[in-house]
Amino acid sequence: MKKKFKRTTVTSALPYANGPVHIGHLAGVYVPADIYVRYLRLKGEEVLFIGGSDEHGVPITIKAKNEGVTPQDIVDRYHAIIKKSFEDFGISFDIYSRTTSKTHAEVASRIFRTIYDKGGFVEKVSEQYYDEEAKQFLADRYIVGTCPHCKNERAYGDQCEACGTSLSPLDLINPKSAISGSTPVLRETKHWYLPLDKHEPWLREWILEQHKEWKPNVYGQCKSWLDMGLQPRAVSRDLDWGIPVPVEGAEGKVLYVWFDAPIGYISNTKELLPDDWEKWWKDEDTRLLHFIGKDNIVFHCIVFPAVLKAEGSYILPDNVPANEFLNLEGDKISTSRNWAVWLHEYLLEFPNKQDVLRYVLTANAPETKDNDFTWKDFQARNNNELVAIFGNFVNRSLVLTHKYFGGTVPARGELTGYDKATLQEFAEIKQELEKQLDNFRFRDALKEAMNLARIGNKYLADTEPWKLIKTDAARVETIMNIALQITANLAIAFEPFLPFSTAKLREMINKKDFSWEELGQIDLLPAGLMLSQPELLFEKIEDETIEQQVQKLLDTKKQNELNSWKPAAVKPDTSFDDFTKMDIRVGTVLDCQKVPKADKLLQFKIDDGMGGRTIVSGIAHYYNPEDLVGKQVCFIANFPPRKLKGIESQGMILSAVNSDGKLIVIQPSQPTAAGAEVG
Ligand code: 2FM
Ligand code: ZN
Repeated sequence: MKKKFKRTTVTSALPYANGPVHIGHLAGVYVPADIYVRYLRLKGEEVLFIGGSDEHGVPITIKAKNEGVTPQDIVDRYHAIIKKSFEDFGISFDIYSRTTSKTHAEVASRIFRTIYDKGGFVEKVSEQYYDEEAKQFLADRYIVGTCPHCKNERAYGDQCEACGTSLSPLDLINPKSAISGSTPVLRETKHWYLPLDKHEPWLREWILEQHKEWKPNVYGQCKSWLDMGLQPRAVSRDLDWGIPVPVEGAEGKVLYVWFDAPIGYISNTKELLPDDWEKWWKDEDTRLLHFIGKDNIVFHCIVFPAVLKAEGSYILPDNVPANEFLNLEGDKISTSRNWAVWLHEYLLEFPNKQDVLRYVLTANAPETKDNDFTWKDFQARNNNELVAIFGNFVNRSLVLTHKYFGGTVPARGELTGYDKATLQEFAEIKQELEKQLDNFRFRDALKEAMNLARIGNKYLADTEPWKLIKTDAARVETIMNIALQITANLAIAFEPFLPFSTAKLREMINKKDFSWEELGQIDLLPAGLMLSQPELLFEKIEDETIEQQVQKLLDTKKQNELNSWKPAAVKPDTSFDDFTKMDIRVGTVLDCQKVPKADKLLQFKIDDGMGGRTIVSGIAHYYNPEDLVGKQVCFIANFPPRKLKGIESQGMILSAVNSDGKLIVIQPSQPTAAGAEVG
């Protein structure tokens, strides 16, 4: 039997304020959380939706250092950008604050101190790497060295990305600081640890026995952490950016970012409701939900609950509906490789199309496995679903009502069996929709909402009011009344998913008040109500627009290849004598043809100043043969002839291998006599 709660606190992961937010953030966390919150609000439930920026941690300090600005400058910049993106996309937070707020420092310090005073931490001195040039201890990620397992020279202090092994900084061979490049030294330092090993028994019982209903991806990850055995985790760091550890003798030490970030949910609640925040966090009748991405599962299901439990006066999450990752056109989204669709850029290119992105990201949400966002799918879902089903039905209902009844909702007469069956069908959708939403299955919920529009389309197609209007206007009144009631239902059913479009739709049908309760009813628009002028809810997206977006990504890919390219290592020494043995000449291409049945080969006729020669070269993928005719090339003239596809090749044309692997023929910079020696 499920517990009946009085209210719900919904949190969504606090994004790091060291870059803008992209579609992966939206799909994984913020759109699902927003759908759920809007649904609860529509049902009239008491709900609070908390967001904010995560403004501490080492990466922010590194970014600041690289840019020659302060960490505060960095977080001020990105907090503003991120906050605006969320507003633009209709993420309806009750508060969006930040972990550099005064309230947050107070709340986080108090929680730390309470646990400390209860003896809930373990103090431990250990040796850690220290960068003497940068004068700071190094976070694991900022120590680079050789992996002891696979000898990759660019392994990090926490992991080798080449062989996937988890490492500790002390495992690295020849460690270097990623900040200054110097060799770090080991220094003793004291830190406070949360003894997760001691919390393990109750965590096992609470998650594995009492929360079997959690999503399989969440439950599974927790189980594997618990089965591996929990270790104490340090909750402080040697750093000058963060909340000072509120203990005497802890100068230069701050709370670990993952200790203070989730507490940000609590601080932001307190900032919003200074006198009334506790009921959202300390009352057993409050249901706490954390919306996060899969990389945050351990922190929200194990570490943060252990912190709350150690403090002693807080409730624990009832569910943590974490999503998997969204990829982009087959590749992992990456900030450093600029492989992302940034929300602020999207809006510049698709103004007023927030709902299209919300729709596509929900329809394709990575709820049970990683998923892929492609621009083709974006276009198809817009054109074939939003425009062709939802938009089309709404438009037909409204336009026909204006045409036949001057924009007034007609009265409904007696219902036919078919009318009743249609109404029955859409009454059932409400239950299905609720079932999916209640279980955080937003993709399936969206499908149900779209089915409502499908029912509407089918109803109009089957009843054909445009034919009947000439013979049976009274029947058309009933048909249009039903179509308009379905339209009004759509304005409610889609509100959690597409808040901008449904607001526009409600304007068109003059429906000011609305609630979830009304869904499935057929008296939402009274007969005689005057409707406003219809406008299109969605517009078709043309191929050209999509091609531009795809091209933008291809350009990024190319740029990344160039950025990551390194010249090959120089070969072992040779000698001038060896070099002079090679007879390199300039020649002019007289003729160039593809070699039949050999897709790589081109056959050249070269004027070599010595009567001409034939050379076969493997560059057919990179040149049109006719483009090379008349050009000059360099070739090795004293290779023994050899047969390629039955053609005798008398030399080798010289090419450079470019960073993208393409071959580029080497040419003299000025016209040169055929047969001239190169040396
Ligand atoms: O992974 C991240 O982006 C973290 N900044 C999420 C923090 S969630 C919560 F703890 F604040
Ligand atoms: Zn390795």
